[in-house]
Amino acid sequence: MSAGPAPAPPLPVVVDCDPGVDDAIALLLALASPELRVRGVTAVAGNVGLPEAVRNAGHVLDLAGVPADLPLVAGLAGPIARTARVADEPMHGAGGLGGLRPAVPPRAPAPGHAVDFLARQALADPGELTLLAIGPLSNVAALLVRHPDAAAALRGVVVMGGAARAQGNITPAAEYNFHADPEAARLVLESDLAVRVVGLDVTRAALFPLEAAERLAALPGTAGAAGALLRGFVLRYRARYGTPAVPVHDALAVAALTHPHLLGWERGWATVECAGEFTRGALVTDLRTPERARRTDVALTVDAAAFTALLTERLAGYAG
Ligand code: RIB
Ligand code: CA
Repeated sequence: MSAGPAPAPPLPVVVDCDPGVDDAIALLLALASPELRVRGVTAVAGNVGLPEAVRNAGHVLDLAGVPADLPLVAGLAGPIARTARVADEPMHGAGGLGGLRPAVPPRAPAPGHAVDFLARQALADPGELTLLAIGPLSNVAALLVRHPDAAAALRGVVVMGGAARAQGNITPAAEYNFHADPEAARLVLESDLAVRVVGLDVTRAALFPLEAAERLAALPGTAGAAGALLRGFVLRYRARYGTPAVPVHDALAVAALTHPHLLGWERGWATVECAGEFTRGALVTDLRTPERARRTDVALTVDAAAFTALLTERLAGYAG
């Protein structure tokens, strides 16, 4: 009997992040996903300042036990067209990693700038590299401006950001990543990049429950550390919103790339409001006007149970 179709070769990805607890979980998930080959990590200011984002990403890569030669590169220290404003977001805890402060200093970043690193990676295999953009889109927008040829060589970009139908989380109209750098988000959505948007519409519908975090936290090694990060994340979210479960926003963007069938997608026109007094950073979509250019895929539904099971299983795999 035939063994069935051979598995597809792993997708090469670079993760652009602002760790952040959910960025940390997303990195651990991406590194534990056989569907992906992580070719590097780039850091951007957002949840924390750029130095802290680089530091925290280094700690997560050490925690994951990945080889020291996996490139970690620092990017923009703030938005492309506004003064930087680092989130004073208590959701991520002290230092941005839920208070996690390993005694061993984190791995050092590679020299150079993230935007130039992204360009080299994209041009090395035209049409193959996917960006997982799970922080403000400052680095991605800078790639479009500084290296348009490299941006055109990307296979696509999966973005954690926006809220097509749901209320925002930093203002009523806007989600944090798009609000932090709205000009960058608009540039990316209005570019020719193939963009998939994983926003609050789905991340808030796929809450990770406290009991699943507790089960992971009881495991040894990195699995237990991931569980502790998630447990603290849930407890802070419950303290603010009352629910014993938390949206692990960035991890769902990873799952959207490895398991797109877990989400329901609609393709349409999309951009980001940059000038509104109350609507800065709002994702604006038109998913129904036939003659409008439709090139952005927006996730509107999700199989929450399947996502929780996938994330739990893959993080548990770090228990050794
Ligand atoms: O709105 C959620 C997004 O903002 C996530 O990427 C989280 O890490 C924060 O950056
Ligand atoms: Ca993030």
